Amino acid sequence: MAETLFIPKEATKQDKYEALVPQIEALIGGEPDLTANLANISAALKYGMGFFWVGFYMVKEDQLVLGPFQGPIACTRINLGKGVCGSSWKEARTFIVPDVDQFPGHIACSGDSKSEIVLPIVRADKVLGVLDVDSDKLNEFDEVDQRYLEQIIEMLQITS
Ligand code: SME
Repeated sequence: MAETLFIPKEATKQDKYEALVPQIEALIGGEPDLTANLANISAALKYGMGFFWVGFYMVKEDQLVLGPFQGPIACTRINLGKGVCGSSWKEARTFIVPDVDQFPGHIACSGDSKSEIVLPIVRADKVLGVLDVDSDKLNEFDEVDQRYLEQIIEMLQITS
């Protein structure tokens, strides 16, 4: 397993993802442990893309519970339909939030977070968790992030 990531510095967001996604695939391929893979994906995205906060919330019983992440400490539990993460879980769709202050019910784990993308992890029509990425800049996320982050989520082997 490679121990360092190669990410082109002066490159577009798309070019960075193009470099990063195959490296993430190699990093988690062959490793069956979900926690290990979620942890490495969080670190690869945080340090590869320079995001403010990257992490997973997994559905446990009737709540989303904080999983592996990189960044400042975050809220531990989120209810169905609450905040951006709970909305993504409830509606089983991606939310791109250009300005978190304009999102009704946004849960502010850090006052420095300005924009956010949350993608559901869906298997057999069930949301098993979400990938949450925060930026300390407004309007950071778009369809390019959605496309590549969906590819990363697809790589995860999750059984329940
Ligand atoms: N802002 C999220 C909560 C999680 S933190 O951003 C890490 C939300 O509104 O669901």
